[in-house]
Amino acid sequence: MRDSCRLIVVGATLLGCGGSDPVATRGLAQDAGAAETGGPRDTSGTLLSDASDASPQDASVPPPADAPGTAPARDAAPQDVGSQARALSLAAQVGRDLFFDATLSASGAMSCSTCHDPAHAYGPPNGLAVQLGGVQGDQAGTRAVPSLRYKEFTPPYADLLDNPDGVSVPGPGGGYTWDGRAATLADQAKIPLLSSFEMANASPADVVAKIKAGSYASLFQQAFGADAFNDADAAFNDAAAALQAFQDDDVSFHPFSSKFDLYAGNKIGGSLTAAETRGFKVFVDPSTGNCAACHYQGAGLNGSSALFTDFSFEAISLPRNAAIPANADPTFIDMGVCGPTRTDHLPADAGAPDAFCGMFKTPTLRNVATRTAFFHNGVIHSLEQAIRFYNTRDTAPELWYPTIGGTPKATTDPGFPTYGLVTTQYVGGTVQKFDDLPAAYLTNIDPQLPLDGRAAGSAPPMTDQDVADLICFLGTLSDDYQPPATPPTSGACVN
Ligand code: HEC
Ligand code: HEC
Repeated sequence: MRDSCRLIVVGATLLGCGGSDPVATRGLAQDAGAAETGGPRDTSGTLLSDASDASPQDASVPPPADAPGTAPARDAAPQDVGSQARALSLAAQVGRDLFFDATLSASGAMSCSTCHDPAHAYGPPNGLAVQLGGVQGDQAGTRAVPSLRYKEFTPPYADLLDNPDGVSVPGPGGGYTWDGRAATLADQAKIPLLSSFEMANASPADVVAKIKAGSYASLFQQAFGADAFNDADAAFNDAAAALQAFQDDDVSFHPFSSKFDLYAGNKIGGSLTAAETRGFKVFVDPSTGNCAACHYQGAGLNGSSALFTDFSFEAISLPRNAAIPANADPTFIDMGVCGPTRTDHLPADAGAPDAFCGMFKTPTLRNVATRTAFFHNGVIHSLEQAIRFYNTRDTAPELWYPTIGGTPKATTDPGFPTYGLVTTQYVGGTVQKFDDLPAAYLTNIDPQLPLDGRAAGSAPPMTDQDVADLICFLGTLSDDYQPPATPPTSGACVN
């Protein structure tokens, strides 16, 4: 599906231009900020004219001390490292209050920030595959919590989205959540507010009543009109728009403050080490890592750049995760775009051909090194394990999928890898490769490197050195990077 031309361009950035490619990389932080400052993001049409009227209101500062339910998040809110803080619109201020307000959940203990923690790049604060929510706080979700950083550039879902690389043929792409079913951040925000296993409000009116009784009710009216609470459905839409405005406007959702950003902008402190440079090469190399084919880092849609995703949907067929309670039911199979959570691409009949089954959205890899649960079902728990999965899903599937009918070896052979999900070695038996996708849909699995379907027992696409270097490179995508006063000359990820 994808052409490798753009990888040559990417390679030129890496190898020849040292990050000085003006189209692909330069000034991305400034451009993104400028586009938004002037943009029509303010739902109320009102901008705070006096940025010094700030005490609790300036960008990225957590909500006021008197806002209920905000205590856990308050200390954790990120600082604007290297970015120009700017005043939030009234709508975005409301959105920030909503985001941190645990009274907006049926349990009274859960806000957006419980799962999307600003201290963890707005990703989960723990390594759980799925979080617990609901009225009593005991209902498990079905998917891993994504980071909310850099999401505002996401186009709405389309079956044939133009690929931002400008070369690949159009395919399923865009939209929010792992299956793309929400078209905008505002649409998306309504899902957790009402989901029985998340914030579990009974209805939009239930949410609105809580806002009306809350400490920022008058701010809500300032932003959306004195009569804003008269119509519950309209007020619910306003709340969703406010949550979008906060995510769109607040710089903490798109700080562009990683080492990679310094590198891409030719800034001091942005020199990649030898190990990171090699890792970048693996990342873009179509014959080894080939990560950039989907985690695209060139100029993207909506004026974005270096988002490390092309928003495309692919089936890469992660192992089924027994740690998700819903998976105790063998008939529950999360197939992404084709359902069952998303309902507009369901197969005509069970098992009927459907090219969308098994597809999940390619996530950004920015801040990926800060995560401890990976992929849509959180089955993988370290960055190394994620890369090892890509490298050996096909060459050593017994490390990732269960074996049935074999005899466990009392002692594993020396050299039997311990990085897989399966650390027991079997004699005989059959590996249940692709155990979380019905056989009818195995043809949907993407055949690109590094998951090119090569034979079990053959050489994997990446060497151990490639894997180690790739981990180093992905570490440069973490925000809030502070260049050391003196660059180290030895240690991890240096030489
Ligand atoms: C109980 C944990 C939990 C809470 C609370 C929660 N979320 Fe999420 N969030 C998730 C999970 C899990 C997903 C992925 C859902 C899916 O793929 O169906 C997600 C997805 C998202 C996405 C889409 C990101 C992407 O990559 O497309 C956005 C945006 C988002 N949440 C915003 C919010 C907002 C705003 C709130 C508060 C109103 C909130 N979330 C509350 C767990 C949570
Ligand atoms: C064919 C497209 C494709 C290629 C090539 C690809 N990825 Fe992915 N990547 C995806 C998709 C799709 C997902 C989500 C899949 C899912 O959860 O079912 C993903 C998820 C991930 C995740 C989990 C991130 C998170 O937030 O949970 C990591 C880490 C990752 N990829 C790293 C890499 C690396 C490193 C490479 C290169 C060695 C690579 N990917 C190559 C499409 C791709």
